[in-house]
Amino acid sequence: MTITLAENYGFCFGVKRAIDIAEETQGAFTYGPLIHNSKEINRLKNDFNVGLQEDISQFKPQDTVVIRTHGIEKNELQYLKDKEVDIIDATCPYVTKPQEIVQEMSQKGYDIVIFGDENHPEIKGVKSYAEGNVYVVLTKEELADIPLKNRIAVVAQTTRKVDNYLDLINYMIVKYKEVRVFNTICNATFENQDAARDLAQKSDIMIVIGGKNSSNTKQLLAIAKEYCPDSYLIEGPEELQDSWFKQKEACGITAGASTPDWIIKQIKEKIASF
Ligand code: F3S
Repeated sequence: MTITLAENYGFCFGVKRAIDIAEETQGAFTYGPLIHNSKEINRLKNDFNVGLQEDISQFKPQDTVVIRTHGIEKNELQYLKDKEVDIIDATCPYVTKPQEIVQEMSQKGYDIVIFGDENHPEIKGVKSYAEGNVYVVLTKEELADIPLKNRIAVVAQTTRKVDNYLDLINYMIVKYKEVRVFNTICNATFENQDAARDLAQKSDIMIVIGGKNSSNTKQLLAIAKEYCPDSYLIEGPEELQDSWFKQKEACGITAGASTPDWIIKQIKEKIASF
């Protein structure tokens, strides 16, 4: 059986940057998980004494707090500032961008539509920058009950599929008078997705590595499954089952944007041992 890594996989620019920032702080806390990968969070704790605090009220003045790649809500940022904690912002610039767009366009009087998952921390953060009407949707059907004005600005969650975003946009530009569309989907997501699609077409089993609650990893799995029905999402080598690989000839591997290289290497080695 051949084992092939996707052309692009794993850590994106934003996550690499956040990890570098956290490693340099030594002794800081991250507010919420820095990235969607519990193993990497443990490594930061053990090797760099970077702790995890999920309860914002627990921070004390002079604590050093690293803001995660997905960003936080505007009022939480203000709360931390008021508490006089030392803030180190590791929000990915591709997440800061839609935050700024939402703030600016809502100040100009546009209704804001965010294409994304309302429960995702990135979207909660982006939404919090709106100063007027703001709606989060995943499908055009959800727009039907929303009394939108005729001036609308639209942004997308960074990890969403372009095709789905286009579906929504195509519907909106016909229905409303002015729709300002911002392409806030991140390139790293495109690159990993395109590479997963290419590889899945040539594989009879695909292993997708990443956090099970990571939206971009779940999307990689969905793409892999489209072309290769035997696709599995795992977080670590212990989840691999040798029965998956019986009679398989080509195994493809890809990994979500929060997956460190050392986990990918361990998994590749274990597959090779089957
Ligand atoms: Fe940023 Fe894109 Fe990564 S939004 S955190 S570079 S997937």
